[in-house]
Amino acid sequence: MRKTTILGTGSYLPSKVLTNQDISKILDTNDEWIVSRTGIRERRIVAEGETCSDLAYHASLKALEDAELTPNDLDMMIVATLTPEKRLPSTACLLQDKLQAKKAAVYDIGVACSGFVYGMSIADQYIQTGTLNHILVVGSEVMSKVLNWKDRSTCILFGDGAGAALLGPAKTPAKTGEKIILSTHLFSNGSLYRLLEMPAGGTAMEWTPDVFEQGYHLVKMDGKQVFREAIESMVDASKIALQKAHKTMEDVNLFIPHQANTRIIDAIAKRLKCPEEKIFVNVDKYGNTSGASIPIALDEAIKQGRLKKGDLLLIATFGAGFAWGSALIRW
Ligand code: UT7
Repeated sequence: MRKTTILGTGSYLPSKVLTNQDISKILDTNDEWIVSRTGIRERRIVAEGETCSDLAYHASLKALEDAELTPNDLDMMIVATLTPEKRLPSTACLLQDKLQAKKAAVYDIGVACSGFVYGMSIADQYIQTGTLNHILVVGSEVMSKVLNWKDRSTCILFGDGAGAALLGPAKTPAKTGEKIILSTHLFSNGSLYRLLEMPAGGTAMEWTPDVFEQGYHLVKMDGKQVFREAIESMVDASKIALQKAHKTMEDVNLFIPHQANTRIIDAIAKRLKCPEEKIFVNVDKYGNTSGASIPIALDEAIKQGRLKKGDLLLIATFGAGFAWGSALIRW
């Protein structure tokens, strides 16, 4: 079987910055509370008229440029998003049109914050089996449009943005310097779906004025429970990835956890005995960008020179569903 390599990455953050100070002008909150409980200082918000596929488009162009490929080279595009541009068609179709990726099969996947790692795992299977060659996996979110800006316990947490990775086959045998996906591990537990959901907006709940008045079409979360589950799940997924590869945390050079909250990241690091210098954190700048969190962090880590040839990269993700996972990549 072939191995999958990362050919290029890109990310795009809208230019408008919303600081904790800005939010404290519209809500009973403050910078000190938000920073101490979450580590978030600011987040990005889309400009008027800027959409999910726009963010995805900019991130995708950068990943294509990084890989020195064109949209015509794409066999498939997978868009991970919980904030699709429309209910119909998929955001991936809108992205396909913007990129003019004429040969690409496209679809969205709905695995919330874990969507990018799920997408990477799906792409890895097509590439390993030799079915497809070039697959663009994109995480794109316009979280600002699905937040309840009257609920201070959730709206402070999230931000908008997109990240993308272009995956393709490694040379056989893999050449040194190729970034090889060693494994991906996916998990879920739907029985806890009520802890983090948008109750309306699908086909289960009538779209009545009352539904909108109550904000049932917006993100609703039991933060404390989600906090506990996120730590447990990402620790477990990380351990499984390491055990299966016969590696320990000492072998890992960089750990990219889902960027939700620095307290969650710190707790995971403590449980995994992962020193601070091995962890990548940018949640302070962007908040939780859900499905875009991992690809944005990955792209920034690369651009900041945090990954060197031969490094072992561990990724852990967690989100609504619940769905979580991990990945090991040899740089
Ligand atoms: O991809 C996964 C996405 N989800 C998450 O990452 C969420 C995980 N959960 C969390 O990050 C945390 O649970 C939160 C940050 C949401 C909340 O932190 P907490 O330490 O669990 O606070 P809490 O919910 O226990 O609230 C403590 C107090 C409450 O006041 P009282 O009842 O003690 O008087 C809240 O009303 O803090 C209050 N509070 C706030 N105060 C100022 C809640 N939100 C805010 C706020 N500003 N934004």
